[in-house]
Amino acid sequence: MCGIVGYIGNKEALPILVKGLRRLEYRGYDSAGVAVAHGGNIKRVRAVGKIDNLADKLQSEKVPGTFGIAHTRWATHGGVTEENAHPHSDCTGKIIVAHNGIIENYRELQHNLLVGHTFVSKTDTEILAHLIEAFYQDSVKPANTPLPPSEGGMAATGDLRTAVEKALRKVRGTYGLVVMHQDHPDTLIAARLGSPLVIGVGDHEYFVASDTSPMLAYTQQVVFLDDGELAEITPNGFQIYNLHSQRVHKQSEQIDWNESEAEKNGLPHFMLKEIFDQPTVIKDALRGRLVEDDGTAHLGGLNMGEVEMRSVNRVILIACGTASYAAMVGKYAFERLAGIPTEVEVASEFRYRDPILDNHTLVFGISQSGETADTIAALREAKRKGAFVRGVVNVIGSTIARETDGGTYIHAGPEMAVASTKAYTNMIAVLVMYALQFGRLRRVTVATGERLVKAFREISVKMEQALQTSDKVKQIVEKYQGHKNFLFLGRGVNFPVALEGSLKLKEITYIHSEAYPGGEMKHGPIALLSPEFPVVAIMTKNQLYDKMRSNIEEIRARKAPIILIATEGDEAAKELADDVIYVPPTMELLEPIINTIPLQLFAYHMAVLLGKDVDRPRNLAKSVTVE
Ligand code: AGP
Repeated sequence: MCGIVGYIGNKEALPILVKGLRRLEYRGYDSAGVAVAHGGNIKRVRAVGKIDNLADKLQSEKVPGTFGIAHTRWATHGGVTEENAHPHSDCTGKIIVAHNGIIENYRELQHNLLVGHTFVSKTDTEILAHLIEAFYQDSVKPANTPLPPSEGGMAATGDLRTAVEKALRKVRGTYGLVVMHQDHPDTLIAARLGSPLVIGVGDHEYFVASDTSPMLAYTQQVVFLDDGELAEITPNGFQIYNLHSQRVHKQSEQIDWNESEAEKNGLPHFMLKEIFDQPTVIKDALRGRLVEDDGTAHLGGLNMGEVEMRSVNRVILIACGTASYAAMVGKYAFERLAGIPTEVEVASEFRYRDPILDNHTLVFGISQSGETADTIAALREAKRKGAFVRGVVNVIGSTIARETDGGTYIHAGPEMAVASTKAYTNMIAVLVMYALQFGRLRRVTVATGERLVKAFREISVKMEQALQTSDKVKQIVEKYQGHKNFLFLGRGVNFPVALEGSLKLKEITYIHSEAYPGGEMKHGPIALLSPEFPVVAIMTKNQLYDKMRSNIEEIRARKAPIILIATEGDEAAKELADDVIYVPPTMELLEPIINTIPLQLFAYHMAVLLGKDVDRPRNLAKSVTVE
């Protein structure tokens, strides 16, 4: 939540910062701001609302300079106002900070340490600017306690890095932070604890951002900061320290994402582009991981030998939101293929229980961003308790990727829309491959394994076919656009599909929807049904087809409109439903990869028809880095 960009180099900073903010807008879009240093001054411009509002405001302002920072906000402390928008400054206006995270003890610091300082915002972040101010002042005139506000201008003789370091040692909470000082126009300070920060290494130019997307147009050489690290960056290089001024030596690494992957490529929305990316990126998830001859999969990053793999007697899949629905499909796969009892845990619940784990438990953290605070905390807890902890992650170099003892990148490429689509289908692919890999060491025969490998090989083409339902889905959406409620139903592997279809609809259209397993209807939810309450049900040809069909009959008897996702050639579906969307058949465990596609399109077309902001739905941010 919240996106940070910083630039120091030889180019005009403003266009780089604004373009970078647009890349990070998915992380928050309540308000935005930039600060650029030039000729001994810092110009700061902020605006409430989306980046476009800031860009409009900047049109009438001259903001030259080759050094600056910028921020797009998802409000935590303090309402959505210009005063609360970042970057924030100290009393003198010389120290400017942009922050992602939460400073938990800001009130305490304000009352105990910063008496006399003038605060102009209601944010927790502003405390950082004043703390740095106080320690900076202290470094100019040693032994000045308690920490006073600056009187008049400050000389450029202070030690900015040490001042930031001392300030950070006082705070409790989380931060991704960039700091600039008017009197140090060649120095950018960046620091991280709990909120991601990446340094991009160019040719005499450096970038800092919450993820790599703002820098992909300029460099693919990056350094991921770890928690407790602080970087001092100048146009000539950077040095990394811990919070006790000790040097930390890190090499930059090459990332293989490129800028065009983070573009809409002519389509009106990132979400649509990402839905249509799915047949391509699933090939990236599968590449090099399927072993035809042995009817298995091999995910090398697991970092477990066969003896360890055989010792696992329980799997726990930890995730939030859409990732947790992918995890539910993973549970079916692990239990069916590997015969290992598997649980899905919502991370925010898991972290506050006292989970019973041991060294025979394998825990996977599943996350697109790899930065979801609850998932990270849950995985740390699992590690503490001695379980094997692995990641299934999209964002390269993200916290979960770095903190787990192995795991797999899902290779979905940058996902920019807040509503997750291609990451979900690639997560399922990876989890089913893991289940196959474990299953082949236990009870899956080579013949069954080969059938699944073959189904994987065909999945991309079938996803293309499922995408061809888009026009049909749009027509159905037009028919149902006035409805205020929807019920999604599925059974077995298609129950998570129903949950995901319902979440997508809620997230981007704000229409109320519920999702239930088909068999659970008669235990309560059936009371909701009426001609005004349409049901979207997944009734593809699998082992639960007849059961699902009976559930649909029950709905028909209550006269609720029925939209069915059915397998191509199933004529009976037409008799049962008001509308049918046909999808190609595949092996049952892979059905969610196909069957979710029309539901993603359903939510997308509905949101467009209702004039909603598809890529940036209200109140949401893509990466939930706070509790
Ligand atoms: C998906 O559409 C949502 N925006 C949300 O549920 C998301 O899946 C969840 O916050 C988990 O994010 P992660 O995969 O980055 O951990």
